[in-house]
This record gives sequence, C-alpha cells and structure tokens, in this order.
Amino acid sequence: MIPITINDQQFEISNDLTVLEAAREHGIHIPTLCYHEALESVGACRLCVVEVETNGRIRTAASCVTPVAPNMIIRTNTEKIQQLRRVLVELLLARCPELKVLHDLAREVGLKEVRFFKEQEDCFLCGLCVRACSEIVGVNAVGFGDRGVKNKVEPPFLKASNVCISCGTCTTICPAGTFHLERVDRLKTLHHFHDEYHEEKCRVCGDHFIY
Ligand code: SF4
Ligand code: FES
Repeated sequence: MIPITINDQQFEISNDLTVLEAAREHGIHIPTLCYHEALESVGACRLCVVEVETNGRIRTAASCVTPVAPNMIIRTNTEKIQQLRRVLVELLLARCPELKVLHDLAREVGLKEVRFFKEQEDCFLCGLCVRACSEIVGVNAVGFGDRGVKNKVEPPFLKASNVCISCGTCTTICPAGTFHLERVDRLKTLHHFHDEYHEEKCRVCGDHFIY
C-alpha cells in the first residue's frame, strides 16, 4: 500500500493500480472513452486526463495508463483539466457530430459549441472493438486500416476474415453504438467469400458460431 492524494483527500492504495483505478476505487469520477476494465489500456482518447504532481513536478497525464506512485498528488478537475477535456470532446464532436455518447460528454464537460469543421464519421477510433476482438475473443477479425486522417476500423488488409466467429463482442463494446449491422455485414460479406471459411468456437464461452 502507498499514500497518495486525490483532490486534497489522502488515501492508502495498492501500488499496482493506475491513477484512474485508484480514483474509481474511491468514487472519484473521471470521464473515459477508450477505457474498459476487461482490456489493456492504451491511452487513445486522452479524455481521462488529470494533473499529476510527483516530487514537485506537475504534468498532465492520461490517468488510465499512468501508474500510481508513493506520495503522488492527483487533481482530477482543475480549470486546466476541464479546458483540456472540453477541447478533446469538441474535436471528437467535430468528427462525429451525431453521436449521443459525445453529446452526453459535452454536457458533462460544459462544452457549448463546436468551432471546428464538422465531418460525418460514426467512429472515434477508440479501438475498444479492435482490442476486444484480439484480447477477449482471441482472434483479430478487425483492426485499424490506413493511417492518419484516413485511419478506420476494418478487417485487416481489407481481406476476407477467416477468423471472425460473429460473436458480436465488437458491437457490444462499442461506446458509440455504431459498430453494428453495417460493419458486421461487411465482415460477414467478406467472410462468406473467403474460400477457407470454417466454423469457429468462441474461446471464452465455447459456443460455435455459424453464419
Ligand atoms: S467502431 Fe466503436 S468501438 Fe470500434 S473504434 Fe469505432 S467507436 Fe471505438
Ligand atoms: S480513457 Fe484514458 S485515454 Fe481514453
């Protein structure tokens, strides 16, 4: 156990936690998008940003990928942090203006308007679907295609997936609620055309999936 301070409150916590886990353990809310307790954290969305002070040095850090340290001082809701979160949500909303999860976040962080050019994407590239497919289901039927502004979730190399078992984990975990029929249909279509298609078993529940 180690001593840390979060928002002026002192706690004794296990030294193997991240800052986000430590805060949640004590009921302190930090907004997240790309975090899921069942998956490795990658710090993709940065929405969980907090201020961290160690040995007198203050920095901002993504709390989901920052391990706690003895005597660390954490501030989760300073004016600077709130401002950073507003800009992050604004950028996400400019990319995906229709998504309810982002409008809820905008209300939470006090964002009133989006100043940037609006696109019409329905995926903010949190990567939960990709990581869930790899880490929970144990296959890699979806991944990130292209790079930079063209980055998107696709079957690897846009090739027919002979490993997708149609378990629906990707659709369930998507916080945008948009990894649904369109993307799954695309996977299925690619899958059906694949010569080496064979039935697969889910490595978690053991069920067979056929389509
Ligand atoms: S489809 Fe959903 S889960 Fe996958 S990266 Fe996009 S927003 Fe995240
Ligand atoms: S929740 Fe920590 S970076 Fe996305």
